Amino acid sequence: MTVGNIALFSSPSASCRSPALDLTRSADSGLIVAEDIAIPNLQPIAVTPKSAARDPQSAARNPQRAIHNPQSVRPLLKWAGGKRQLLPAFRRFYPREFGAYFEPFVGSGAVFFDLLSAHALDGRRVSLTDSNRDLVGCYRMVRDNPSDVVEALERLAVGHAAGGERHYYQVRDGFNALRDAMPSRALAYTPALAAMFIYLNRTGFNGLFRLNGDGRFNVPAGRYARPRIFDPEHVFAISRVLARRGVSIGVAAFDRVVKKAQPGDFLYFDPPYAPISQTARFTAYTAEPFTLDDHQHLCDVAAVLAARGCHVMVSNSSAPAIATLYESNPKVAAAGLRVYRLPARRAINSHGEARGEITELLLTNLGPRH
Ligand SMILES: C[S@@+](CC[C@H](N)C(=O)[O-])C[C@H]1O[C@@H](n2cnc3c(N)ncnc32)[C@H](O)[C@@H]1O
Repeated sequence: MTVGNIALFSSPSASCRSPALDLTRSADSGLIVAEDIAIPNLQPIAVTPKSAARDPQSAARNPQRAIHNPQSVRPLLKWAGGKRQLLPAFRRFYPREFGAYFEPFVGSGAVFFDLLSAHALDGRRVSLTDSNRDLVGCYRMVRDNPSDVVEALERLAVGHAAGGERHYYQVRDGFNALRDAMPSRALAYTPALAAMFIYLNRTGFNGLFRLNGDGRFNVPAGRYARPRIFDPEHVFAISRVLARRGVSIGVAAFDRVVKKAQPGDFLYFDPPYAPISQTARFTAYTAEPFTLDDHQHLCDVAAVLAARGCHVMVSNSSAPAIATLYESNPKVAAAGLRVYRLPARRAINSHGEARGEITELLLTNLGPRH
C-alpha cells in the first residue's frame, strides 16, 4: 500500500509463524511460555493516497502495516543496542490504538523513528527519556539550535578530512575538557558540544558511548576510510521532529514513567543488555552500570504498567539470567505479560567483529499479528 510517498505493507498470515517453544515449563503451570517469532514475509498492496487518508487502516491508525517510508526520518546517531534490524519483528506487536507514547531508554530511538515515520505518533504525546545526559543535551541542542550545530559540524568534518585520527583525539580531549567544566550536563549543553558528540559518535569505534571511572569519554577512533559524519538536511529534519508539539525529551531514570503513564498508553523499554555470556561485560552508556537488580526492577515496572492497562514492550538479550527472571516473576504472568523469542543478527562480542544469529527476548502484553 502507498500513502503519498509512504509505502505500507500487510503481512500474509499463518505460515510465517513457527511453533511455540516452551522455555522452561508449560503454560499450564501458570508460567509464561516463550514463542519463536519469525520475521514476517511482508507483501505490498496498492491504494490511492486520498482513500488512504480516509482509511481507518492507514499507518497512523495501524502502525503494524507501515513498513517502509522513503521519506522516513532515520535516527541521528549510531547507538550500541540500537534496534533497527529488529523493527520488522517489532512491528507485528505495535498496538493499533494507543494514547501517549513513552520510550524511557531512548538511545538513538530506532522504535520512536519507526513509529514516527509510519505517522503512528501524529497528534500523540511522546515522552523520550534516557539517563545519559550527554545524549539528551545533544538532542536538545539539535532541537533548539540546529543551525549552530550544523555550522560546528561543518568545521569538524573539514578538520576530520584533513587530520583523520589525530583530529578525532583532539576533539575527544576538547569534548572532555568542556564536559568537565559543566555543572549540569543536559541543561548546559552547547551547540559546539552537541556537534562534538555527533562527530565522535560518527567517527569513533562502533558509535560507542563509553565513560571511564572518572566519567570521561574514552572511546577510541573508529577505522572508517570516509565516515559519513552528517547531512545538514538530516540534522534539520531531526530538529523539526523533536520540536513537534507534544514531543518531549529529557533526562530521567526509566521508572519515572510509572508516575506518568495512563491506561491505553504505549511504552517501549530497551534497557542495556544483560551479558549473554559470563565473560561478556555490561555495556556502559553512562558511568553507572545496569545491574541484574535493575533488570528485576524493570520487570516489576512492566508488570505494574501492564496491570494498569498500558501496552508494554520490553526487549532484552536472551541471557539465561533474564529469561529466568522474566519467567519466575509471578507478577509478570498475572499482568498478562508473555515472553517471545525473536531471531536477530548482531555483534555478539564487545569488539563487534563477531556477528551471528542470536535470539532476543520480547516481554509484552501485546499479541503478535500475522
Ligand atoms: C540498549 S540502549 C537503547 C537503544 C535504543 N533502543 C536505540 O534504538 O538506540 C539503552 C539506553 O538506556 C540508557 N540507560 C541506562 N541506564 C538507564 C536508566 N537507569 N534509566 C534510563 N535510561 C538508562 C542508556 O543511556 C542507553 O541509551
